[in-house]
Amino acid sequence: MSTQWLKDAVFYEIYPQSYYDTNGDGIGDFNGIIEKLDYIKSLGCNALWINPCFDSPFKDAGYDVRDYKKVAPRYGNNNDLYRLFGEAHKRGIRVLLDLVPGHTSEEHEWFRQSQKAETNEYSNRYIWTDFCFQPAKGMGFIGGESERSATYALNFFKCQPALNYGFLKPEEPWQLATDHPDAIATREAMKDVMRFWLDHGCDGFRVDMAASLVKFDDEKKSGTSAIWRNVREMLDAEYPDAAMVAEWSDPPVALRAGYHMDFYLNHPGGGYASLMRDYQKGFSVNDGVDNSYFRKDAPDRDINRFLEQYEAWYKDTRDIGYISMLTCNHDTIRPRFNMEMDELKLAYAFIFTMPGVPFLYYGDEIGMRYLDLPTKEGGYYRTGARTPMQWDSSKNLGFSTGCADSLYLPVDPAADAPTVESQQDDPASLLNTVRALLKLRHEEADLQADGEYETVCAEKGKPFVYRRGSLLLAVNPSGEKLFADVDADDRQVLFVLGMADAHARRLAMGPQSFVVLK
Ligand code: NOJ
Ligand code: CA
Repeated sequence: MSTQWLKDAVFYEIYPQSYYDTNGDGIGDFNGIIEKLDYIKSLGCNALWINPCFDSPFKDAGYDVRDYKKVAPRYGNNNDLYRLFGEAHKRGIRVLLDLVPGHTSEEHEWFRQSQKAETNEYSNRYIWTDFCFQPAKGMGFIGGESERSATYALNFFKCQPALNYGFLKPEEPWQLATDHPDAIATREAMKDVMRFWLDHGCDGFRVDMAASLVKFDDEKKSGTSAIWRNVREMLDAEYPDAAMVAEWSDPPVALRAGYHMDFYLNHPGGGYASLMRDYQKGFSVNDGVDNSYFRKDAPDRDINRFLEQYEAWYKDTRDIGYISMLTCNHDTIRPRFNMEMDELKLAYAFIFTMPGVPFLYYGDEIGMRYLDLPTKEGGYYRTGARTPMQWDSSKNLGFSTGCADSLYLPVDPAADAPTVESQQDDPASLLNTVRALLKLRHEEADLQADGEYETVCAEKGKPFVYRRGSLLLAVNPSGEKLFADVDADDRQVLFVLGMADAHARRLAMGPQSFVVLK
């Protein structure tokens, strides 16, 4: 296996609609990403994940793919994307595309064929029952829209019919077994899509709803996992450098299914949510107490809410793949929503010094705000985290030369909207703190994906202290000076935010501080 590059990989997620518009139509494009590759490199990121950029009616921002092998004209053409791969590679940057294997758009040609009354090659490509009034048990379904006398199952929104990978224990005549040739044909069609992009220079995939292939009877995910292991065999044999990251958020299962990385996502009640988004109740915002670990004024912070889940996963998976920590993604409220710049510095310092492969969401490096906006392209509350990147003080904050009305989404109207330009020359800015942290990560192998992790002090009321290989790290997000009994006297300070002092077997951490000791 030669996905060795993941050991020192730091990803940057780009929502292409909103990154940089080079032709003034108000929508970001491939040429825009190419123009900003040097900026991305300057952050210390050496890999990209680009959200779906394929032909689509955009009822779910491109997660409703109409043609897997053709890019959406609003971003450019296929050759522009191939050029992006080449320009990224020249700078040592790898590029992952977003693979959506669980569903297509209802406008995909496979689905149009599948809707026909007459049986054809695509009749079983999607999950259909065998009668116009019969729903598929346990799943959302649509009836009355097709010539075929049956209902079809949905994987997400109404525009996203579920692809058919078969069922583990078929009970109804319309349920195919997972080894039925038509179920296997769906898997092979997805491999064909992967080969197409890999042959053109892409370096792998972020996989949408990776757990969703085999439907409701696959509780332990054995059916879905078998499909991914088969895909991984193909990659190892034909594209050994290619990497896959799952949208699964269950690393013990996803990594055993053959994924190289799995995201640690913002699931309600999960450990990751307790770090920066404790204000959430389920997926909605509540007005209750915010005990997010990195908030300065959290009344009752406790890092153990994170560690209980994380450490179990880490110990179970450290030899088989990577957990990916992220600042945010296109489905999540930006961390600036409830956190100030100094709080973000500490949160990012933590995320970028943890094992596994970290992901930075575009705009988080300057602390872009979450905007309160009406829904766009099926975004709903997610829309506010998808606004244009803020480059400088020029028109539309440097995102586009088009008129403000033509923009995909509005830019932050605040007078103090953060921009790259306004932070560029300040060594203490969030932007330059991100750069310094990533530089340190690239310099110290112990801080990278494989470096060992151990909790040293997780007691309430004390700084959180952890070990990465031979390095000792500590963070104090509170507004008070805190102490931990650790013997760090002869260590050298490699990096510090705020004040930290090791003396007489006591580590003193000033208000809102972070330190890396060697
Ligand atoms: C997860 C994606 O991240 C999200 O944006 C999308 O709406 C759903 N999957 C459906 O594809
Ligand atoms: Ca454009």
